[in-house]
Amino acid sequence: MITRAPKGDNRCRYGDVVRPPNEILLAERVIALRHRLEATDLTPGAVVNSAFGELVTICCRTPDATATATLRHVTAHAPAIRAICATGETALEHHWSRRIAAAPDPRAELRRFPYLGNYRDLVRLELGALAALGVPTPRRVVVAGSGPLPLTGLVLAADHGAEVVHVDRDVASRHDGDKVTAALGLGDRVTSLCVDLAEPDPALDAAVARADVVVLAAMVGVDGPGKAAVSARLAAVLRPEARVVVRSANRLRTLLYPAVTPADLPGLTVLLEVHPATDVVNSVLVARPEETPGEVAR
Ligand SMILES: C[S@@+](CC[C@H](N)C(=O)[O-])C[C@H]1O[C@@H](n2cnc3c(N)ncnc32)[C@H](O)[C@@H]1O
Repeated sequence: MITRAPKGDNRCRYGDVVRPPNEILLAERVIALRHRLEATDLTPGAVVNSAFGELVTICCRTPDATATATLRHVTAHAPAIRAICATGETALEHHWSRRIAAAPDPRAELRRFPYLGNYRDLVRLELGALAALGVPTPRRVVVAGSGPLPLTGLVLAADHGAEVVHVDRDVASRHDGDKVTAALGLGDRVTSLCVDLAEPDPALDAAVARADVVVLAAMVGVDGPGKAAVSARLAAVLRPEARVVVRSANRLRTLLYPAVTPADLPGLTVLLEVHPATDVVNSVLVARPEETPGEVAR
């Protein structure tokens, strides 16, 4: 709220316009966007899309120091905002997945998806992080938490030639994901499993044991214990040379996705952490299965 300097205020001359610091204005905006989104059913449309668009812009483009200061003023709202984002993202994915699968030209319709570029950039960043560790482009990938519009796996299959297994515990998400995969003609390289990653499942164990890389979606295990259950489960069956790409978030981006720390990943050793300074939202941790006693260093 902009005010006028009262008499005796030594910060400036009497009557000058006094602007609150940016972090206060940004915090007020974030809270206003939370309330605006909570007033909707989060179905994609003009109001919802523009509110999410503005929230993502604030979280990705605010300079680091202001972002850190702003976060202090909105920390209490973070769990609610993340929950709104998870519901909104899933609704957006169902909406576009059905639109693409039903389109006369699915590839053309996919190119209209506003976040396709973000997914391509995120996958490129993750392959770059793997390459920085000497890991070549993976041939076999498990996407843990693939969603109704499984773009991570579809980009890896279509643009990078990978063989992909999509895993989602939600029947409707798996169904929509399979339909859009078939519509894009990628069914020869992409398969799917409908299982909970925290639960025992022989088919999932087999897929993870064959994988060069497992990509762990940010919305799988939205808190420490949840992430830990999935991490321990993956670590138990991964090959020693396999790697896990764990999606996380940093600074204001933690309003959109939960931050993951190495302590949240039992059974895994984090080798690298990357925080993007672009419109890519997720940070990335690259980890390997922990060495077992007496095992030769990898
Ligand atoms: C919305 S998607 C986001 C991923 C995004 N589409 C991608 O391509 O990277 C995240 C999905 O993770 C799934 N999920 C969350 N926790 C899970 C778990 N424990 N096991 C399996 N799937 C899970 C949810 O059902 C949701 O569909």
